[in-house]
Amino acid sequence: TSRVRRAPCIVLVGMMGAGKTTVGRELARRLHRRFVDSDHEICARTGVSVPVIFDVEGEAGFRRRESQVIDDLTQQTDLVLATGGGVVLAEENRTVLRERCTVIYLDVPPAVLWERTRHDRNRPLLQVEDPRGRIEALYRERDPLYRSVAHVVVPGGRGSAKSMLRKIEKALE
Ligand code: S3P
Repeated sequence: TSRVRRAPCIVLVGMMGAGKTTVGRELARRLHRRFVDSDHEICARTGVSVPVIFDVEGEAGFRRRESQVIDDLTQQTDLVLATGGGVVLAEENRTVLRERCTVIYLDVPPAVLWERTRHDRNRPLLQVEDPRGRIEALYRERDPLYRSVAHVVVPGGRGSAKSMLRKIEKALE
């Protein structure tokens, strides 16, 4: 007997500013899938912004909400899901992503991430004295975690959305 397996969720992981939302939205359009951004979903459920959640509940509170949303959304098929940069910090999320989804890591160097996020006020983790150093430290800490969940690693650089999309489409063929 043959069983039909519906297309598992395609998930984009990577650092803040890597292009998960931009690339994910366009990938979904090309694959005729629905696009969801997990930060956006968290905000829709709570009715407030990411910085407000960090203010009121701390990073730990945000992470609990994020894990719940990841658990819910990764059970859906025919989805392209863009995640927040810290999704890989929780082991439970890493397991869920690895087992249920096709995971794509957008690997963009810290210098480019910095250029893209330097004027951004919507990312609480970068509201520090030395955001550039923070990005480098987060990259060093997280790069191995992104690799540990990724089925596909896609390198990117400046203005690389189109070339990343080409590489992803090739890898998914
Ligand atoms: C975070 C990244 C953000 C958001 C939150 C925490 C992180 O998402 O989830 O500010 O820990 O890197 P983006 O990667 O979409 O900026």
